[in-house]
Amino acid sequence: VPSASKVVWEKFTPQKKFDRQMYHYGNFSQNFLWGVSSSAYQIEGGWNADGKGPSLSIWDKFTHTPGNILQHDTGDIACNSYNKMEDDIAALKKVKVSHYRFSVSWPRILPDGTTEYINQAGLNYYKKLLDSLIAANIQPQVTLYHWDLPQALQDVGGWENETIIERFRDYADILFENLGPKVQLWITFNEPFIIAILGHVQGTHAPGIDRPDTLPYIVSHNIIKAHAEAWHVYNDKYRASQNGMVSITVNADWAEPRNPYKQEDYDAARSFYLGWYAHPIFNGDYSPLMKRSVLEQSLAGGLTKSRLPEFTPEEIKRINGTYDYFGLNHYCTKSWTNSCYRGVVLLRDRTWLESGSHWLTMTPFGLRRLLKFIKHEFGNPPIIITENGVSENGPVDLNDVHRKYFYEKYINQVLKAYLLDDVNVIGYTAWSLLDNLEWAVGYTERFGLFYVNRSDPDLSRTPKASVSFYSSIISCNGFPD
Ligand code: NOJ
Repeated sequence: VPSASKVVWEKFTPQKKFDRQMYHYGNFSQNFLWGVSSSAYQIEGGWNADGKGPSLSIWDKFTHTPGNILQHDTGDIACNSYNKMEDDIAALKKVKVSHYRFSVSWPRILPDGTTEYINQAGLNYYKKLLDSLIAANIQPQVTLYHWDLPQALQDVGGWENETIIERFRDYADILFENLGPKVQLWITFNEPFIIAILGHVQGTHAPGIDRPDTLPYIVSHNIIKAHAEAWHVYNDKYRASQNGMVSITVNADWAEPRNPYKQEDYDAARSFYLGWYAHPIFNGDYSPLMKRSVLEQSLAGGLTKSRLPEFTPEEIKRINGTYDYFGLNHYCTKSWTNSCYRGVVLLRDRTWLESGSHWLTMTPFGLRRLLKFIKHEFGNPPIIITENGVSENGPVDLNDVHRKYFYEKYINQVLKAYLLDDVNVIGYTAWSLLDNLEWAVGYTERFGLFYVNRSDPDLSRTPKASVSFYSSIISCNGFPD
């Protein structure tokens, strides 16, 4: 039965016959950014090298605690990118990317998390990386925080303690000052939702806390404020001379209502978590939907008020607009239903292709819908897809057909969003350059364009078939007819 929800939903689903064609030919904008991404703890190794030693990061502590990571894997050596910078640059050149997204390890720069002591050796490592990238004509995109908090800050409460907002601002300031002249693209936080939920509710990520109460909301509140402060530091002190772009990267699956004509399924899908972070930053304050759903959950849990902290009117103003683009990590679609006997549940359509990660199905159609949704919901910002990719596990097969399929189909959906839906998407970044430490599952799930042979002491990198495939899309800046 057509209803109000149907009308809204149709805004995000293809309507024209032309839109429904499987494949779209054409090019991206001339300056479209093509990249690959990585993160410090997942690839660097050098876990206690050159002054990172005294306090280390929460991920060093977490992986060194037995039982946390599959096969007892750690990031101690990882892909040894700390010592194999040249190999990584050669790999990047082979893919022919225009940009490389990597993250800075906070404890390498500030071993105890504060500006009391700045570790020059840490800064020098990233300066050298930036120089090598620029010499190879590859633009850097630098993430300030991809989950490896200095352990010393965790010891005083980590993201739960609001003094961390100042600590993060100071850290950002140091990076902007020292690395900023060589960087045009910045990301403050990678995937705050994962930090809050996996790190503080489920305890499957560092710091390994499982307190499914008010904590994720406090952690997220502080992260949103810390992001805003970093953006303001850049805006006030560095924008005039450096003229770069600063944003946050949020992760979002596309939420497809099981039955888009059923109001309950539609509502269940709409309450997904993208807005938790994006709404205060792009629109101002938590969304009414977020406020309502957390209040309902809190009351149902026996509380008398919502677990969601409130921003003051001044804070709402200070946070609103702290972006220069929209950073999006996207992997897959989930189907949502609010069933009469089970409540809200996520379903998996049995026809969706699987991958090497249990949570990741190959569902390219959702990316276009998500992009269109972001355009409408958050005021048509420029969007950079900062991660998108697929994994395998088990035996090594360098002919990674599933990855070629994945990139072809997903990038084609991005092209449709760009050409047919006028979504202002300005860049695409594949996850990941190398097979690396996939957090709690260690090295068992491989997302790399390059295979890293872990039984070779040299940790040699070998291109999978998807390298030349992705590279051909880059060279054509799209799909030639
Ligand atoms: C998101 C995270 O940012 C990245 O670190 C992780 O490896 C990929 N997704 C794949 O799970």
